[in-house]
Amino acid sequence: MNTLFMHCRPGFEGEVCAEISEHAALLEVAGYARGKAASACAEFVCSEAGGAEKLMRKLRFSRLIFPRQWARGDFVELPETDRVSVLLARLESYPVCGSLWLEVLDTNDGKELSNFCRKFEGPLRKALEKAGRLRDDPRLPRLLLTFKSGREVFLGLAESNNCALWPMGIPRLKFPREAPSRSTLKLEEAWHHFIPREQWETRLAPEMVAVDLGAAPGGWTWQLVNRHMLVIAVDNGPMAESLMDTGLVEHLQADGFVFRPRRPVDWMVCDIVEKPARSAALLQAWIGEGVCREAVVNLKLPMKQRYAEVRRLLERIEDDLRSRGIAFELGCKQLYHDREEVTCHLRRL
Ligand SMILES: C[S@@+](CC[C@H](N)C(=O)[O-])C[C@H]1O[C@@H](n2cnc3c(N)ncnc32)[C@H](O)[C@@H]1O
Repeated sequence: MNTLFMHCRPGFEGEVCAEISEHAALLEVAGYARGKAASACAEFVCSEAGGAEKLMRKLRFSRLIFPRQWARGDFVELPETDRVSVLLARLESYPVCGSLWLEVLDTNDGKELSNFCRKFEGPLRKALEKAGRLRDDPRLPRLLLTFKSGREVFLGLAESNNCALWPMGIPRLKFPREAPSRSTLKLEEAWHHFIPREQWETRLAPEMVAVDLGAAPGGWTWQLVNRHMLVIAVDNGPMAESLMDTGLVEHLQADGFVFRPRRPVDWMVCDIVEKPARSAALLQAWIGEGVCREAVVNLKLPMKQRYAEVRRLLERIEDDLRSRGIAFELGCKQLYHDREEVTCHLRRL
């Protein structure tokens, strides 16, 4: 059970390899990373026993930027019939598990396999329960099966409190019909990822004041208004009238990189398509100067060295805030709704 298997957005396998290799080197876990281009997955093959388990114990999944899901385990070849017996035999060397997720990769082949998974899940779950390999208990590890085809599966384990919040790391969010743009889901996903659900009432509270930079037509503003916040929407483009009619939005035609509110605000969010260094500097300035308490900013990724560049920008923010003696929490994730971008969250503590 010595491979760490990770899902990602297709095309970002190299970033996952770079990221996990850096962590493994720091934690002195020997091995190598590999990921076929556009396969939507990568793996870190550990050369010493217990390596994958150590990585999962020492790292918080939510702190990783590019992996969407992870699990430690091995690949298993499956026959065309009676796959359940083969899996049960392999699972004898695994601990009893507390939950079961069947997953596929985010590729066209993966989409085709999801039907098979839906049909297979019932019989597999029954057989596992009957054999005493599956018990409904969140303290026990989660059994994660990633099907690469009907004949090959990665049989993996992850702690239920240290893996993706949703199967395959893909959130089940319903597009709100009244929202003026699909990117509304990016901000909602960011909140799910960065803010524990039990803190939403206090950190996303009614009557908080938020600034939305690059707000038009208003998908992100819609989320803020939906939490009953007062929003200053900054954009030269027009905002959806339905949002203006709520009376909760003030629309300012100004440059988001120059605008500053007259008084400190609770939230700043920014979805302007800009060079990542400029967006990161904006985030750093708003939190560093106390203009807002919490912020979500989209960072467009450069063409090359995408992981290295994101790390460099995050380190710059961390160094600056530390040198000013500011306590903060910084997170960065390529969310499911992010394409060539990552989402940064910064909070002043
Ligand atoms: C990706 S769209 C934002 C979509 C928006 N978050 C939503 O959910 O509907 C980017 C917006 O940034 C605006 N923009 C670009 N440069 C800007 C700047 N310097 N200041 C303010 N807005 C800017 C554009 O007019 C555009 O409306």
